[in-house]
Amino acid sequence: MKRVLVLAAAVTALFANAQGYPGSKPISFVVPFAAGGPTDRAARDLAEAMRKTLPGGNFVIENVNGAGGTIAATKVAKANPDGHTLLFWHIGMAATAGLYRKLQYKPLEDFEYLGMVSDVPMTLIGKPQLPANTYRDFENYIRANGGKLNIAHAGLGSASHLCGLMWQTAVNAKEAMTTIPYGGTAPAMTALIGGQVDVMCDQTITTVPQIEAGRVKAFAVTTASRLSGHKVLKDYPSLQEMGLKGFNLTIWQGLYAPKGTPEPVLKQLNDALKLALKDPDFIKKQEALGTVVVTDQRMERAGHKAFVAAEIAKLRPLIEAAGKFAD
Ligand code: MLT
Repeated sequence: MKRVLVLAAAVTALFANAQGYPGSKPISFVVPFAAGGPTDRAARDLAEAMRKTLPGGNFVIENVNGAGGTIAATKVAKANPDGHTLLFWHIGMAATAGLYRKLQYKPLEDFEYLGMVSDVPMTLIGKPQLPANTYRDFENYIRANGGKLNIAHAGLGSASHLCGLMWQTAVNAKEAMTTIPYGGTAPAMTALIGGQVDVMCDQTITTVPQIEAGRVKAFAVTTASRLSGHKVLKDYPSLQEMGLKGFNLTIWQGLYAPKGTPEPVLKQLNDALKLALKDPDFIKKQEALGTVVVTDQRMERAGHKAFVAAEIAKLRPLIEAAGKFAD
């Protein structure tokens, strides 16, 4: 009898959670980087689209910078699993698994995977004062000035760090530049525009407006081929086109809840996410910034998790080849 009552209470709690969700309590998107950067921008756009389909959903963005995104991930992994604290993160979810020797959470075990949002190309950009105007001139300039230049990134395991590492490894210029970490690429972009740093590899979400305004110099995109369909990016070669054989880096963004979030809440969040991915306003905004909204199995919870597991396996040897780890 006692067991039946316990079971009945558990079932009631499960449905109470689903029925009452989200209620008046805000849903926090924890963003692992500074406000104004690409992750923050994409999270705000997604929150706006999900607000339309999650009745009563009151979203807030919480920027928790540091340690390449792992501080934010730790916070969400340990948060109350009630659907009110979610992590909006990118490829760092997979990259940090190979880069950090010690993490306070297990990327594949301590989260519920809610679905992927978009694929995001990156761009190699330089400060406006750089004398180079083409990728070839830029590479020659880097070689001629080895040791004197610096490259900005958003912390170990960030997308900008991963991209910079891969590019420096591919052109054999790992020691040519000093790396300067920031709390996100928003402050790094300000430093680049101001000429305090020389180079950065950042997501198109924030580079497109700056390239268009002529505030930074762009040299190449990181996708396998040129982005011929994009009004701004079409003018820049891919790194493969410039002879970096096999160079192909597109990052992605996804949404995560702490492990143990009730099943009906997860379903409600995944349904709202999938509706957002079909929202014409959301799609238009993302495409203008060079990103491609996910339309495949990765928008499903299981598809998202399987993809991230494959990314962890793919990135680990690349990170090992670059040979720089963090504690
Ligand atoms: C940001 O939002 O600042 C970036 O996503 C940081 C990065 O990973 O490069």
